[in-house]
Formats: sequence, structure tokens, C-alpha cells
Amino acid sequence: MAIVGTGVDIVEVDRITSLIERTPKFLDRVLTPSEKEYCLKGKKGAAQHVAGRFAVKEAVIKAIGHFVPWLSIEVLNEPSGHPIVQTYPPVELPSGGRISVSIAHERHYAIAFAILEVED
Ligand SMILES: CC(C)(COP(=O)(O)OP(=O)(O)OC[C@H]1O[C@@H](n2cnc3c(N)ncnc32)[C@H](O)[C@@H]1OP(=O)(O)O)[C@@H](O)C(=O)NCCC(=O)NCCS
Repeated sequence: MAIVGTGVDIVEVDRITSLIERTPKFLDRVLTPSEKEYCLKGKKGAAQHVAGRFAVKEAVIKAIGHFVPWLSIEVLNEPSGHPIVQTYPPVELPSGGRISVSIAHERHYAIAFAILEVED
């Protein structure tokens, strides 16, 4: 595999908290139903999980190199907690393309890193 794109993003958790409080439709605009369920499953820390997913989506857009709709990028978690990304149309990855991401968050900030790899 060869890395053909990278992206990183940082999101302020308080900004996400305000958006959730002021814009009721914000969550539905940026999160798929599965992502929403994951983020809201425990009330504590929901905004951190949302911020992490927002950061992933921005990082993936940077790795791909152009804007795509928020809902065409979905973050799912394996049983271990490891995040994986699925993409949906109109996202078109190069043949054999694969996106890997990593997320970290604490009280004030969430960051995510994404790499786009293709088969050699
Ligand atoms: C993975 C681990 C380092 C996370 O550290 P942390 O300081 O608690 O959390 P961070 O803020 O750095 O990162 C949180 C993010 O890490 C990611 N993450 C969680 N588990 C992970 C794992 N096993 N591998 C890679 N990434 C993981 C998630 O994306 C999570 O954010 P999300 O829940 O919003 O998706 C920590 O949970 C750990 O050491 N786990 C070891 C594996 C483990 O115990 N698994 C338990 C289930 S088998």
C-alpha cells in the first residue's frame, strides 16, 4: 500500500456543545444514525465523541483533497473501540483505496488524523 493523502483536524468541544444546543438539526446534518447513537449512548462526553467525528470528517476531506458531504463519511467503532471509516456516494476512492483514522479527545479539544492509502 502507498499513502496518497493525509489529513488532520482539531475541533473545540465547546463549539460543538453550542451548536448542539442552538441548532437542533446540527447532529442530523453531520452524523449518520449509527454515529448519533454511538455519541449519545452515554450522556457524559457526548460532545467529545461528536467533536471527534467532526474532526474525522474534516481530516478525511483533507486526505481526499476535496469537500464531500458530511453524511458520506461514517465513523464506526470496532468492539475494541478502534474507529473505522466507511464512505458512501458521492465519495469515490481510488481503486483499492482505503482510509484509516485515529481519534483522541479530552475535555476541550478533539483531534483526528486520516490517511488514504492505495494498493501499489
Ligand atoms: C485506546 C485507548 C488508548 C484510548 O485512550 P483514551 O485516552 O481513553 O482516549 P482518547 O481520547 O485518546 O481517544 C479516544 C478515542 O480513541 C479511539 N479508540 C478507542 N479504542 C481504541 C482502540 N482499541 N484502538 C484505536 N483507537 C481506539 C476511539 O475513536 C475513541 O474515540 P470515540 O470513542 O469517540 O470513537 C485506551 O482506551 C486503551 O488503552 N485501550 C486499550 C484497548 C482496550 O482496553 N480495549 C477495551 C475493549 S477490548
